[in-house]
Amino acid sequence: MLVQAYNLMAHAFLLFLLFSCIISTNIHACKQTECSSLLSFASTLSSPPLNWTSIDCDCCHWKGITCDQDGWVTRLHLPSKGLKGDISPFSLANLTHLTHLNLSHNSLYGSLETQFFFSLNQLEILDLSYNRLFGELPLSLSSSNIKTVDLSSNRFFGAIPSSFFQQASNLTSFNVSNNIFTGLLDFSSNLFNGDLAPGLGKCSELQVFHAGHNYLSGLLPEDIYNATKLEEISLPLNSLHGAISDNIVNLSNLATLDLYYNHFGGELPLNLGKLSKLKFVNLDFNNLEGALPPSLINCTKIVELLLGSNNLEGDISMLDFSKLSQLTKLDLRKNNFTGTIPRSLYSCRFLKAIGLSENHLEGQIEAEILSLKSLSFLSLGYNRFTNLTGAMKILMSCKSLHALLLSGSFVGEGIPSDDDMVDFDGFQNLRVFSLAYCNLTGQIPVWLSKLKNLEMLVMSFNQITGPIPSWLGILPRLFYISLSHNQISGEFPKQLCRLPRLLYEPLASQANKYEFELPVFGFMSGIQVFPSQKLSFYRLWIDISNNNIVGEIPTEIGQSHLLQGLTLGYNNFSGIIPDQISNLKNLEILDFSTNHLSGIIPSSLASLNFLKEFNVSYNNLEGPIPTGTQLQSFNASAFEGNPKLCGAPLLNKCRPNKDMDANKKNNNDEGNGHHQLPWFYIFAVLGFIVGFWGVCGSLVINNTWRYAYFRFIDNLQDRL
Ligand SMILES: *[C@@H]1O[C@H](CO)[C@@H](O)[C@H](O)[C@H]1NC(C)=O
Ligand SMILES: *[C@@H]1O[C@H](CO)[C@@H](O)[C@H](O)[C@H]1NC(C)=O
Ligand SMILES: *[C@@H]1O[C@H](CO)[C@@H](O)[C@H](O)[C@H]1NC(C)=O
Ligand SMILES: *[C@@H]1O[C@H](CO)[C@@H](O)[C@H](O)[C@H]1NC(C)=O
Ligand SMILES: *[C@@H]1O[C@H](CO)[C@@H](O)[C@H](O)[C@H]1NC(C)=O
Ligand SMILES: *[C@@H]1O[C@H](CO)[C@@H](O)[C@H](O)[C@H]1NC(C)=O
Ligand SMILES: *[C@@H]1O[C@H](CO)[C@@H](O)[C@H](O)[C@H]1NC(C)=O
Ligand SMILES: *[C@@H]1O[C@H](CO)[C@@H](O)[C@H](O)[C@H]1NC(C)=O
Ligand SMILES: *[C@@H]1O[C@H](CO)[C@@H](O)[C@H](O)[C@H]1NC(C)=O
Ligand SMILES: *[C@@H]1O[C@H](CO)[C@@H](O)[C@H](O)[C@H]1NC(C)=O
Ligand SMILES: *[C@@H]1O[C@H](CO)[C@@H](O)[C@H](O)[C@H]1NC(C)=O
Ligand SMILES: *[C@@H]1O[C@H](CO)[C@@H](O)[C@H](O)[C@H]1NC(C)=O
Repeated sequence: MLVQAYNLMAHAFLLFLLFSCIISTNIHACKQTECSSLLSFASTLSSPPLNWTSIDCDCCHWKGITCDQDGWVTRLHLPSKGLKGDISPFSLANLTHLTHLNLSHNSLYGSLETQFFFSLNQLEILDLSYNRLFGELPLSLSSSNIKTVDLSSNRFFGAIPSSFFQQASNLTSFNVSNNIFTGLLDFSSNLFNGDLAPGLGKCSELQVFHAGHNYLSGLLPEDIYNATKLEEISLPLNSLHGAISDNIVNLSNLATLDLYYNHFGGELPLNLGKLSKLKFVNLDFNNLEGALPPSLINCTKIVELLLGSNNLEGDISMLDFSKLSQLTKLDLRKNNFTGTIPRSLYSCRFLKAIGLSENHLEGQIEAEILSLKSLSFLSLGYNRFTNLTGAMKILMSCKSLHALLLSGSFVGEGIPSDDDMVDFDGFQNLRVFSLAYCNLTGQIPVWLSKLKNLEMLVMSFNQITGPIPSWLGILPRLFYISLSHNQISGEFPKQLCRLPRLLYEPLASQANKYEFELPVFGFMSGIQVFPSQKLSFYRLWIDISNNNIVGEIPTEIGQSHLLQGLTLGYNNFSGIIPDQISNLKNLEILDFSTNHLSGIIPSSLASLNFLKEFNVSYNNLEGPIPTGTQLQSFNASAFEGNPKLCGAPLLNKCRPNKDMDANKKNNNDEGNGHHQLPWFYIFAVLGFIVGFWGVCGSLVINNTWRYAYFRFIDNLQDRL
């Protein structure tokens, strides 16, 4: 049985060999002209070698080459091969049967001359994306068979010539995103050249048109609406203007309309709803005005509807969202919408993200919102919503909610107290919670201590009284606290110095890269004590400035060695600046200004290499400012208002004996008191443990973590 099967296989194998021999003899012959053409192409490249040898010129067997039955080279497929060098205009000119040319993801440079394509009149697929090609596009491709053109992510400039499309009646995909095209995207300009040949309108097969991330200006070419097979129009991040024509309804196959970050104005086409295949609409950051067209409710396949940052208006409660059953993201942020949250929205079961902030909406959150089981992002800030307590009682049962941004709404109400929230058990997945600029009264309630996944808590610019609760320090994931601009009293709780995320790098590394589902603007702007810091909202940061906090800065703060921002300005702190601050090696922002701190500035602060913002002005500090590159680089204003402080950058020169004595006396006070001796050792040991963790942890995890962290920052930056 086994032997038989084996025999059968051997036969099959022999047959297969025979068959492949026949095939390979059939295709092996390579034309001499093509061979030398390819060798000339290879010779212009610097590295690495393509290993094509001229010995027998068997080019059909070379890596990356495919020939047809007659030995004509039809495909040149060398993506991501590390090719470097100039693409010479004639090198491929003799490959007259070439249909596929894919040289993407290399480092080719030079410009594309018309001659380059002159003989390539069979070309169907052209992919030169992700190279370093530059110059203007050739006036046209000579192949009328061209289907796919991807020249994205190069450095092409100039205009996109409409003649480029003249022959392109078979073109299905055109991607020139991410170049530096500076010309108009206005194909009608042809008319002035006496050339009546339309541009895109000729492309009756065009399905994908991508030219985003250039500097295109002008209008959308009117004949784009003649390319009725278009499924994707993607032109974000340009300077296009004008209205979106009503003719867009002719593009009945359109699924993606991505025009964010341009200057499109006028009203949305009234009959937009006729585009029944629309799935992704992103018109964020334009100047669109008027109301949403009622026909929109007929776009039943729509998945993302992003219309934030425009001048749209009208009562959104009138809109019926109930037929948009596929909707996952709705962004109407920063417009002039009025009314209440439409009830019909609650029937869009797949909704993940709702952005309604910065409008003139009013009313209360309804319990029906709980039918949105996937809701993870809800931004309602800067509206006139009321009944925060009611909202909290409802929303706490939103199991998927990650980000709840309510700043600037519910103005003047009370913080839902523990009596309001009896048996609180909710917000199990909440990671970002912002309630700034609400003028809320009351104290920080204990129910917040049950938000075990909370990472960022923003309650600045309210009228919160009472102390900073010590239990904040046990929230395992918290790394960002802003309570600035309130009337918080009491001392800085020592427990806050032990936030796990600020202590252990391995834990910090567990922080998943958090991505907001929708763009978020200044949701923490209230805490931007340093407006120059654009990204100041994302930091490992404790900000309790502008309150009534008293007592000393706890020496334990030195344990939070991952802290990047510590802002305690405008409070009533007294005592000295603890030497342990110098353990915060990642500190970028330190603000102790306008308090009653005394003593010297510890010389160890000079070792904080990442400090970008530093302010100890208006205290009672004395003695010389420690010399060290970092501290001297700040303006005198960072030190002013301390009459007994001296040395650069202040003009007040130090008097050799007296001021140095002050320094000495202070140092002695810190280190030599008898009762302080054991503490000194305990801190030394503690410091060692923390340091040991830090060093070992960072050796193992530092790079991954930093990578994730910068990815995170990049992501936020993208959305700014
Ligand atoms: C292409 O063919 C012509 C004529 O055979 C020849 O003169 C020319 O050198 C060839 N070009 C290349 C790049 O091989
Ligand atoms: C070319 O050959 C060298 C040596 O045989 C080899 O190391 C290299 O990987 C080859 N390059 C390519 C692109 O195949
Ligand atoms: C070019 O090759 C890359 C890598 O194989 C592939 O991802 C890409 O889709 C190809 N381009 C075209 C237009 O087929
Ligand atoms: C290109 O389109 C023409 C008609 O416009 C057609 O005859 C030809 O077969 C098409 N070529 C390819 C490769 O699809
Ligand atoms: C077009 O090019 C851009 C940039 O290279 C790329 O991100 C995008 O995915 C491409 N689109 C298509 C449809 O290939
Ligand atoms: C669009 O196509 C129609 C006929 O299908 C033609 O009459 C019109 O001139 C075309 N418009 C443009 C701008 O090419
Ligand atoms: C859109 O279609 C209508 C009728 O189907 C036609 O009259 C009109 O010319 C078309 N517009 C364009 C720009 O093709
Ligand atoms: C939605 O489409 C239906 C059927 O085509 C149509 O009768 C109705 O008027 C449309 N609704 C709106 C608001 O345009
Ligand atoms: C909103 O409408 C008011 C007038 O009602 C106008 O002054 C304001 O500029 C509008 N804002 C936006 C963002 O359109
Ligand atoms: C606030 O909302 C809750 C829950 O929806 C509701 O029971 C309560 O009556 C509301 N309070 C006011 C003053 O509207
Ligand atoms: C907050 O309250 C203060 C003092 O009562 C008042 O001056 C301020 O205008 C209020 N802010 C808002 C946004 O209502
Ligand atoms: C600041 O604290 C001092 C005592 O350290 C106290 O005398 C003073 O009243 C406090 N000032 C404020 C504004 O709380």
